[in-house]
Amino acid sequence: MNSAPFLRNLRENVLTMKEFYFQHWINVFEENANKEDNFKWNEEYQLTPEEKEIIYDSIRQFQRGESGEGKYIFQDAKKYVQQCEDDSYIYALKLFIHEEHRHAQYLLKFMNKNNIAKEKEHWVDNFFRWLRHKGNLEVSITVLLTAEIIAAVYYKAMANATQSKLLKQMCYRILCDEDIHIRFQSYALNRMQKKRSSLLNLYMRLNYVLLLAGTIPVVWFYHGKVFKKAGYNFLDYAAETFLIFEKSRKIIKAKDKELLQMEQVW
Ligand SMILES: [Fe+2]
Ligand SMILES: [Fe+2]
Repeated sequence: MNSAPFLRNLRENVLTMKEFYFQHWINVFEENANKEDNFKWNEEYQLTPEEKEIIYDSIRQFQRGESGEGKYIFQDAKKYVQQCEDDSYIYALKLFIHEEHRHAQYLLKFMNKNNIAKEKEHWVDNFFRWLRHKGNLEVSITVLLTAEIIAAVYYKAMANATQSKLLKQMCYRILCDEDIHIRFQSYALNRMQKKRSSLLNLYMRLNYVLLLAGTIPVVWFYHGKVFKKAGYNFLDYAAETFLIFEKSRKIIKAKDKELLQMEQVW
């Protein structure tokens, strides 16, 4: 059997070093890490009983969600980068996980200040971790991206649901970071899908939209009180989530030239 065409095809599907290069994102994360927080940690305001009742279970779940170690992502990413011989992605991922841990620390510090106990386990978080564990790198990134998109709406709602200036400041900072994360993860998916069959890419994007569509009502069920306090109804929340999804989808689908233009303004 002549294996040459098969091998050639395999070689062509492998991304070159330049095609899977993340130095730009390393710069973005490093610059972002140097921005000062200036949070009002000494604010005297204490959450009112009503505010506390609204955010109590919700903030604990998000704090837990932000604290993942990313063990399986690193394992999968290390395997993935071996084929394109550039490890800038691994370092960019480290900086990304570091930002998520920073969010977890903000929330934990705020919870301690307001006597909110830490969440040990929640089935939604466990389910997302299980999905990431079972899938390959691309599945893991898709699951993470789904959580990032939800977070981008959630923290905006949280900022509007409270009178605490400290919590508002934290939410605004997290929102800026999550915006970077959405672009970073979408960019990574764009690169992974670059040389693959369009049918397989379509299948992966369909899974992405289905996962998001399934997550939206679950998040509303557990965090609806926060969204409602911020003035959202279910449709507003779902529509805003899909608007952010659309931004991510455009990056994932972008051709090299469009991506380069996007990169210049990031
Ligand atoms: Fe986060
Ligand atoms: Fe994030």
